[in-house]
Amino acid sequence: MPIKFAERMDHIGTEGAFEVLAKARQLESQGRDIVHLEIGEPDFATPDNIVEAAVSALQSGYTHYTPAGGIMEARQAVAGFVHRRLGVEVDPAEVVLVPGSKNVLLFTLLACVEPGDEVIYPDPGYPVYASLINFIRATPVPIRLREERQFRMDLDELAALVTRRTRLLIVNTPQNPTGGVLTKEDVEFIARLANQHDLLVIADEIYSQLVYDGFQHVSLLGQPGMKERTVLMDGMSKAYAMCGWRLGYGVSPRELAARMETLMINSSSCAAAFTQMATIEALESPESERAVQAMVEKFRARRDLLVDGLNRIPGFRCARPDGAFYAFPNIEGTGLPEKEMADRLLDEAGVAVLPGTAFGPAGKGYIRLAYTQAEPDLNRALERIEDFVKKAS
Ligand SMILES: Cc1ncc(COP(=O)(O)O)c(C=O)c1O
Repeated sequence: MPIKFAERMDHIGTEGAFEVLAKARQLESQGRDIVHLEIGEPDFATPDNIVEAAVSALQSGYTHYTPAGGIMEARQAVAGFVHRRLGVEVDPAEVVLVPGSKNVLLFTLLACVEPGDEVIYPDPGYPVYASLINFIRATPVPIRLREERQFRMDLDELAALVTRRTRLLIVNTPQNPTGGVLTKEDVEFIARLANQHDLLVIADEIYSQLVYDGFQHVSLLGQPGMKERTVLMDGMSKAYAMCGWRLGYGVSPRELAARMETLMINSSSCAAAFTQMATIEALESPESERAVQAMVEKFRARRDLLVDGLNRIPGFRCARPDGAFYAFPNIEGTGLPEKEMADRLLDEAGVAVLPGTAFGPAGKGYIRLAYTQAEPDLNRALERIEDFVKKAS
């Protein structure tokens, strides 16, 4: 008998990166050689000192449930880290550790947004935003990011989208998929707007340590009046090469943090105990800070190699992103639509990338490549893309 699924499942979306990764792995199992530029996961190993802290935690018995919001020392480590980086005083009771920062998004939507409330989010943007907004039956209100504005929001357009029904604004800087980074002026404007209209803001700043060429990340949390209305969404996955450890965190007003704990009790119970202990090492030790800086330097070199290489391919036009680890070239000049380009690059050239439309309708005419692979792989990908485009156009 076929299973009858709940109606809400008709409204949930997905993350294209996981689907393309599965297809690429299947091709590899058939003997094909694939360069993986589809998923936002650093190829680096987690720094040794962090791995050692986890091993030592396991050996000393961190194999049990922890409090739902996290081990107190780990919550304190996050509070201290946020204070050092952003200059914002954070109480450990305002921090909740979760198995992956996307839980912060889900929990905030579940705790604060009613069906029919409007939620503004970036398009193109991380696909889970639109997916979960639709899933909880809120009204998605996309704000378009354009290449000519370095993929930063048009602030007048943003202000015009706010209505009496707007409950939540999702801001992501540095941005996935475009690598765009908001300036200080952008962030100040958004903070004023949120204060003026009493909006809750999710500040997804998971790529905040991955900025290049002296660019300074500016956090929404640090702006006047924002501590009371901001949910900082961050985690260990990207900057510390810890995607598989599943550790994210939210920093939010205490009463919302308490609701997130309740949602943790009702879902995962807690993040893994030894992962939480490793997080303390990651956030507090100068050794991890040096490791992050070394990875950032490598990402910067990879960015330049990839962006320069893409700009040499006929029909490609690629802006140089200031943050994150994604290139988002416009490919309209090749005459191939983005979905066909992504499918055929995988099938015919052995390069896994994502169509821009996996991140929303405004990604039309673009593809996303993650420069999370080593330079020889990026060179191989560039050669293959160029050969394919020359043959196909
Ligand atoms: C913008 C953005 N936010 C959040 C996440 C989720 O990261 P995690 O759940 O591993 O913390 C990702 C992952 O790709 C992302 O790109």
